[in-house]
Amino acid sequence: MLTGKHILLVITGGIAAYKALELIRLIQKAGGTVQAILTGAATEFVTPLSVSALSGNPALSALFDLTQESRIGHIELSRSADLIVVAPASADFLAKLAHGLADDLASTCLLATDTAILAAPAMNVRMWTAAATQRNLATLRADGVTIIGPDEGPMACGEFGPGRMAEPAAILKAIAAHFAGAGGPLAGKRIIVTSGPTREPLDPVRYISNASSGKQGVAIAEALSNRGAEVVFVTGPAEAARPAGCAIIPVTTAIEMRDAVLAALPADAAIFVAAVADWRAASLSSGKLKKEPGAPPPAIELVQNPDILAEVSHLPPGRRPPLVIGFAAETESLIDNARAKRLRKGCDWLLANDVGNGSGVLGGPDNHVYFLDGTTELDWGKQSKSEVGENLAERIEKRLFGR
Ligand code: CTP
Repeated sequence: MLTGKHILLVITGGIAAYKALELIRLIQKAGGTVQAILTGAATEFVTPLSVSALSGNPALSALFDLTQESRIGHIELSRSADLIVVAPASADFLAKLAHGLADDLASTCLLATDTAILAAPAMNVRMWTAAATQRNLATLRADGVTIIGPDEGPMACGEFGPGRMAEPAAILKAIAAHFAGAGGPLAGKRIIVTSGPTREPLDPVRYISNASSGKQGVAIAEALSNRGAEVVFVTGPAEAARPAGCAIIPVTTAIEMRDAVLAALPADAAIFVAAVADWRAASLSSGKLKKEPGAPPPAIELVQNPDILAEVSHLPPGRRPPLVIGFAAETESLIDNARAKRLRKGCDWLLANDVGNGSGVLGGPDNHVYFLDGTTELDWGKQSKSEVGENLAERIEKRLFGR
């Protein structure tokens, strides 16, 4: 899987640093080679000796190690790698990377490189949710850094929430996806995917939304990215972990999602998996809506949100992606409603699924999809959301290349 691939692994300080040892083993098992750099803080958690012994290469840490500098040099070190992986990536290191600081070997190598970077953050949940960290992540994503994880769960510090480093097996998967994509059949194709729910605020603390988990959108984005497509993933606030290797554009409301999609054009295809809230409040209360004793509940006036799929489907040729794909979430008369919806929205393909009570589709691992393109109507049967992603990606590939 990684035969002939050389990974520069940057290990930064954090309790998750011990998992980097497992990652080295997995990369080697997959056929790759590893050169590790430890930051000063990382050496407090794992020893350079363990890292050197496992990787088979001397673990580097000081910038001015003259022997190393004359033999390889920090510029060469970062450029000779096929991929740079930062795992674990501490909050401090992400901040340095986002701001272009270069005060040790690890940060200097990263600033001096034009090699792709994949970072697996690990930190306390409050450090992860801190506005500064989220700002730095947005900067790094915009700079093209792929962020994998973090996972959610109990943490070494006793708290619970997002911040645990992604498991080494998941990081390996993201590394493999990076290389599979580089020469994949969809290389050079730009595809927009919308995913997750949107959230429409009523006041500073309340909102209208829906139960979309975002899992189907993630599965489709990953299948496309694994085939080498450049995927722009526009996602509402969803629970599913974000897809590896995609440019992530987080949004909250339907209007933000529409603006993000239009800004991401032109594209070769656009797939609208998001469960966009159909309505938003006509006016947003600046203060929290209060319940007055004896007063009736407030009447909330709603207005319709823009229909992003219909808007993109009806763009003039040249601006409209050559392939526009919608989903139809239905609870009754699935096929009849789906046929009508495809025509109404003006998209090329429509994937219809039954999201009624008992279907288990919303939030679940599986989906039962019907494919409609105006001439064929196919029952894909019950499949995992990943299989739906693979089938759709394969069909898109055939269509975009006229196969
Ligand atoms: N969609 C969209 N913008 C909206 C509403 C829906 O882009 N404001 C897209 C969805 O991403 C999906 C398709 O349109 O690809 C159909 O969504 P669905 O919720 O099934 O249909 P609605 O348009 O909401 O119609 P209805 O509520 O009548 O079923």
